[in-house]
Amino acid sequence: PAPGWAVAADVVVVGSGVAGLTAALRCEAAGLRTVVVTKARLDDGSTRWAQGGVAAALGEGDSPEQHLDDTLVAGAGLCDAEAVRILVTEGPDAVRRLIATGAHFDESTEGGLALTREGGHHRRRIAHAGGDATGAEISRALVEAVRTRGIRTVENALVLDLLTDADGRTAGVTLHVMGEGQHDGVGAVHAPAVVLATGGMGQVFSATTNPAVSTGDGVALALRAGAEVSDLEFVQFHPTVLFLGPDAEGQQPLVSEAVRGEGAHLVDADGVRFMLGQHELAELAPRDVVAKGITRRMQEQGTEHVYLDARHFGADMWERRFPTILAACRAHGIDPVTEPIPVAPAAHHASGGVRTDDHGRTTVPGLYACGEAACTGVHGANRLASNSLLEGLVYAERIAADIAAGHTAGTLHARVPAPLPHSYHPEHPLLPPEARLTIQRIMTDGAGILRSADSLTRAADLLDGLHTEAREALHENGKTSEPGVDTWEATNLLCVARVLVAAAARREETRGCHWREDHADRDDTTWRRHIVVRLNPDRT
Ligand code: SIN
Repeated sequence: PAPGWAVAADVVVVGSGVAGLTAALRCEAAGLRTVVVTKARLDDGSTRWAQGGVAAALGEGDSPEQHLDDTLVAGAGLCDAEAVRILVTEGPDAVRRLIATGAHFDESTEGGLALTREGGHHRRRIAHAGGDATGAEISRALVEAVRTRGIRTVENALVLDLLTDADGRTAGVTLHVMGEGQHDGVGAVHAPAVVLATGGMGQVFSATTNPAVSTGDGVALALRAGAEVSDLEFVQFHPTVLFLGPDAEGQQPLVSEAVRGEGAHLVDADGVRFMLGQHELAELAPRDVVAKGITRRMQEQGTEHVYLDARHFGADMWERRFPTILAACRAHGIDPVTEPIPVAPAAHHASGGVRTDDHGRTTVPGLYACGEAACTGVHGANRLASNSLLEGLVYAERIAADIAAGHTAGTLHARVPAPLPHSYHPEHPLLPPEARLTIQRIMTDGAGILRSADSLTRAADLLDGLHTEAREALHENGKTSEPGVDTWEATNLLCVARVLVAAAARREETRGCHWREDHADRDDTTWRRHIVVRLNPDRT
């Protein structure tokens, strides 16, 4: 892309979910000139879709220690215990600060926060808002705060690549902006600190709870910039996503785990509660256990879904506690008050991402990552339900503090004008928009909830084929797809999909949400470790 406009800042935050907006608010409060860039509108992205809530030890009798224990158990031996300790000890105050920022959480009849349960939690510790519209309320409050504070924002801005100076330090990002007046076209924000808060990559699969914008842009950028990425094989499949048919593609309606937390039952085609006896917590076992239990039962019965039965809630409770889910089900012709809800697992959350330390620093100086785009180590092999909004809050605050400390101490390097890239990386040629569907089908077929060496090899070969085609078109014919959001997104999806498949093939065991048909057991001797990937910028 040709250079267009450029603006300068102390920090550029890429993404506008809970992580990005919290980081931006805290950076601005610390006196840093902050710019938020986001691919669509400020309130698009995954945060707005979060239902269940925010997990934190806020209830009577609960403690960070118990929250830590539940998180470590769910993480199946791969959590970074120190990162989790930070999450659970700093979490309660981070939630209180979110409330002080303007988010309204549901209250119990006694006046304190109403807390619910979800899978893997031994206590009621999930704070929620609007019944099942927690993310929407958090997003509303943070967007309003960002606007009130006058923080500079650029919407419809797809991040392309990291800019670095001659010493390899972060110098900003390039962006492709559409229809935003003075910032239209390709441009750059020059800043010595960049916070990647671009969310997840659920769109790499056909059926996902993630919105269309979740295409792994931050992870792909980090890979191209030579940053380390970790744990990409650990994709969490949410057990209960409304089943809309075997060919349903794109974002699917979530049926929150909180519905089970309030007493809904999973039943099979014969009406049998099949999770009983599989785990002491039955339907409220950690998410990987429930997703596997459902998948096995579907295989045994040759069905495409199971049912979530919450008819016993009655109309009043459905309307008061789960209005969003009730409306989504009814919009699809299912009335949960009178009939069980057909559900099946679908891709939900990336436990892996850009590898960071406890301050959100990546392996590239000045580049930070936060929220679902990051791998802080708190999720291990399987994220505990409702820990992700909390992670976004806690680690965004730590990042802002780190940037502010460097800035005020005068240790942030001087801003170096960095050249804009003249073309997209030749080893990552732009893919045609229609490649997105092909990638999703390849990944669902070969690297979905249940994987094997054969399925992963097939997926890797097909993905390599897509890459080779695009490279040949560029190298031999000098042709590349027209730059635009859909081509960048397809390109980013391919980039993260290839790394995900390579990591999943390498991990020859079953652990957390990585489930191998051909390596059915957890192997602590060989695999109690992480798969960390760093791309050589000159190779693919
Ligand atoms: C849910 O409400 O079930 C989703 C919660 C989460 O993914 O953390």
